[in-house]
Amino acid sequence: MSGIIISPSILSADFANLENDIKKVEKAGADWLHIDVMDGHFVPNITIGVPVVNSIKKITTLPLDVHLMIENPEKYIEPFVKAGADILTFHYEAVENVEHIVKLIKSYGVKAGMSIKPDTPAEEILKYLPVLDLLLVMTVEPGFGGQKFMEKCAEKISVIKQAAQENLIIQVDGGINAQTARICTHYGANSLVAGNYIYKSTDVELAIKSLRD
Ligand code: DX5
Ligand code: ZN
Repeated sequence: MSGIIISPSILSADFANLENDIKKVEKAGADWLHIDVMDGHFVPNITIGVPVVNSIKKITTLPLDVHLMIENPEKYIEPFVKAGADILTFHYEAVENVEHIVKLIKSYGVKAGMSIKPDTPAEEILKYLPVLDLLLVMTVEPGFGGQKFMEKCAEKISVIKQAAQENLIIQVDGGINAQTARICTHYGANSLVAGNYIYKSTDVELAIKSLRD
């Protein structure tokens, strides 16, 4: 075990065959399942909501890593926890009171994650690291799968890694493949989200392994 948490993003899966596509990554050695929730306001796209998470929970044992790209995330914490989220990540740019929402998430006994967009400097959020279980550094503008990895975002990881407590999970999301994964883990990331790289590959198991190595 390398200690790297691999979280395939089902945004790149076939939604008409979702159960099959989830079982595929589960069998291939995924650690978590990444679920991208978008509201058409915080990001210019609409994807998955509470009922889908609820159904997914019934067909997989993988921890559900729910990435909320929505405005007013505090309104939806309880419904997503009830639907089966194990990790709930909100966007720093979408909230006014970080401590309040983290406390709310943790009060349900699930992991609290916070994500930052490409233009948010790492220095701005360092003070919140001690209360977080996970910090997600976006390496593309949130909203769509299949975009190009932005290395300047990954560079923020080293600043975060230096300031972070030892058990903070540092996750990256956007344009992750075997090459860009290496760049991110070099900077200190220990959780990798990948959509297209995993789901568009002909050998899912090999793709996951190549991220882990
Ligand atoms: C983008 C989403 C990602 C997306 C990543 O806003 O947060 O999770 O699925 O897709 P890839 O790995 O294809 O860039
Ligand atoms: Zn995501």
